[in-house]
Amino acid sequence: MTSLSGRVAAVTGGARGIGEGIAARLVADGARVFSLDKLAPDQPRDGVTYLETDVASPESVAAAFHAIDERAGQIDILVNNAGIQRVGLVGKISFADFSSVIATHLNGFFLCASEAVPRMVKREGGAIVSIASTAAFVGLPGRGAYCAAKAGILGLTRALALEVAAAKIRVNAVAPGFTRTKLIEQGLADGSLREDWMVARVPMHRLAQVDEIVNAVRFLSGDESSYMTGQSIVVDGGWIVQGIPEAPDWLQTSN
Ligand SMILES: NC(=O)c1ccc[n+]([C@@H]2O[C@H](COP(=O)([O-])OP(=O)(O)OC[C@H]3O[C@@H](n4cnc5c(N)ncnc54)[C@H](O)[C@@H]3O)[C@@H](O)[C@H]2O)c1
Repeated sequence: MTSLSGRVAAVTGGARGIGEGIAARLVADGARVFSLDKLAPDQPRDGVTYLETDVASPESVAAAFHAIDERAGQIDILVNNAGIQRVGLVGKISFADFSSVIATHLNGFFLCASEAVPRMVKREGGAIVSIASTAAFVGLPGRGAYCAAKAGILGLTRALALEVAAAKIRVNAVAPGFTRTKLIEQGLADGSLREDWMVARVPMHRLAQVDEIVNAVRFLSGDESSYMTGQSIVVDGGWIVQGIPEAPDWLQTSN
């Protein structure tokens, strides 16, 4: 891949999980990285500046981008990764929980893009990559807010891609399947997920490693994807394309 030297990136939720992996990769490939996260990292990484930010708050996001202006004077890459999970059936889940999922994933993307786009227009280019999910394509009972937020991310990705294409800003998404992070550990702990159940339904029979998601984000952040915009890359071990998960053995290449 070509170097990201001289580029400045903002990664939301960069303190841990997939976001931490993205921040580390962009630094390794030459970018200067700002993490916008509510949390402080357990172990700060060289090359990453950590800005305590709530992506659901317009004031907090504006302050973070102002800090980036002062310290770096430019923004070339925005990765909208910050996310939370709240599980509950419609009729039972509170409006506050539902709203917090939409606010973090979808409003967070909107707020950060609202700050980044005018700055990227001045730079005459940029790349925006948002982390969606397989939940953007399928229904998951108990995860209505999450499914809606992630499907919304794909809708905003397509609309924004058209708004900014002529300004040489590309807008794409990555849709991960099950990836071993704290978000999944939370589901395992509250009983809404089970590892044997997840693995059995992934055609590749394993969860994703963080780096496998990071590779797709890195591709969409750099010049290698220079003619791609408005798209999403699904990285899920084959999960969403299966029509008949329990196909008989004689229809499986491995048997
Ligand atoms: N892990 C998976 O299986 C999986 C699958 C599909 C999509 N995703 C998506 O990937 C992204 C990263 O998830 P993860 O698994 O690394 O989760 P994680 O919980 O390990 O990390 C999420 C990070 O986002 C930060 N964050 C949460 N709310 C925030 C806010 N309001 N403002 C700023 N930062 C905030 C958290 O502090 C944390 O550092 C999320 O958007 C998630 O929905 C994860």
